[in-house]
Amino acid sequence: MRVRLEGVVKRFGATTALAGVSQEIREGELFTLLGPSGCGKTTTLRILAGFVDPDEGEVYFDDVPVRGVPPAERGVGIVFQNYALWPHMTVFDNVAYGLRLRRMPTAEVRRRVEQVLEQVGLLGLEDRTPGQLSGGQQQRVAVARALVLNPRLLLLDEPLSSLDAKVRARLRSEIRRLQQELRITTVYVTHDQEEAMVISDRIAVMRDGRVAQVGTPVELYERPADLFVADFVGTNNLLPGTVTGLRDGWAELATPAGVVRGRAARPLQSGGRAVLAVRPEALRISDGTPADVGVPGRVALSQYLGSLVRYEVEVEGGRVLLVDVHNPKGQIVLRPGQRTTVSFDPEAALVFPEEAP
Ligand SMILES: Nc1ncnc2c1ncn2[C@@H]1O[C@H](COP(=O)(O)OP(=O)(O)OP(=O)(O)O)[C@@H](O)[C@H]1O
Ligand SMILES: [Mg+2]
Repeated sequence: MRVRLEGVVKRFGATTALAGVSQEIREGELFTLLGPSGCGKTTTLRILAGFVDPDEGEVYFDDVPVRGVPPAERGVGIVFQNYALWPHMTVFDNVAYGLRLRRMPTAEVRRRVEQVLEQVGLLGLEDRTPGQLSGGQQQRVAVARALVLNPRLLLLDEPLSSLDAKVRARLRSEIRRLQQELRITTVYVTHDQEEAMVISDRIAVMRDGRVAQVGTPVELYERPADLFVADFVGTNNLLPGTVTGLRDGWAELATPAGVVRGRAARPLQSGGRAVLAVRPEALRISDGTPADVGVPGRVALSQYLGSLVRYEVEVEGGRVLLVDVHNPKGQIVLRPGQRTTVSFDPEAALVFPEEAP
């Protein structure tokens, strides 16, 4: 099913939770709403589910407006972070609940429940109660309960946030695999940008009740539309300064750390304030020989992470740059306190106008 939000506005008293969201979600895609706390992610899901109506605008399911259609009739499956399972019921009964409400024949209920429990990897645990399951298994039950009704749309609101990192990583891959297998249109909410990157077909980065940018994980990472997205998706080093040169899409910035160059990601003004963004993996360090071209600095911290070494390099003006050196074996290893020069290909750096605070 396709979903379309058109000019959706939602206010709670003086708070504008959604300030005009227009967005299409394609048939069968996993679409993620990503953004900081309070940006309107859950409100968007609640509107799609039918728990709240927008103050302005309209939501369409396959071009049919759904205003006034109650949640139970929308064909939507929902998994919330703390959408509690019934503690006194077995796994089987938790999952079967919705089917029994619909008076489905017993044999059919059994067949459906077992099929879904197999899909989420819970066969054999039918007779346990939620208290006898791990956190990850409980969330699988929640997913099974949402899927058993064959929803046209699956809504997941931070379904993994209460789980530890390893279980979270495994479950997110399984949710992705299952979603692709079933080809079910899915809206996934998270404030974890890494989770959003690995699980999504497309991501909407939200800020203050609006969509800041929509794109595939690669598009958002490689071509962030503004400083907010550049800072929120992945890790970026930010160097503010004054624009001293503009030519053919390139910008030169005078920063306290030195003069740097990058691609102008947005229109810039000569003499205006701007910020250069460059990712840790695009930075190189050298052993600090005076002839090196780049920004001089001093190693403040070096963290060995096996596949990479992450350096924190303090540059003139006090900024700390993160530098990732991959496959560090055989490369120079610098120690805290050592002088170094940080350099990068200007092609890998983006310059944005500085935002008003
Ligand atoms: N029922 C409500 N009554 C009053 N204000 C609300 C209500 N629901 C949400 N808000 C406000 O609307 C804004 C958006 O809330 P929402 O729950 O959609 O954010 P979110 O992006 O899901 O954040 P989080 O990552 O913290 O879950 C917030 O400022 C929130 O305080
Ligand atoms: Mg929320």
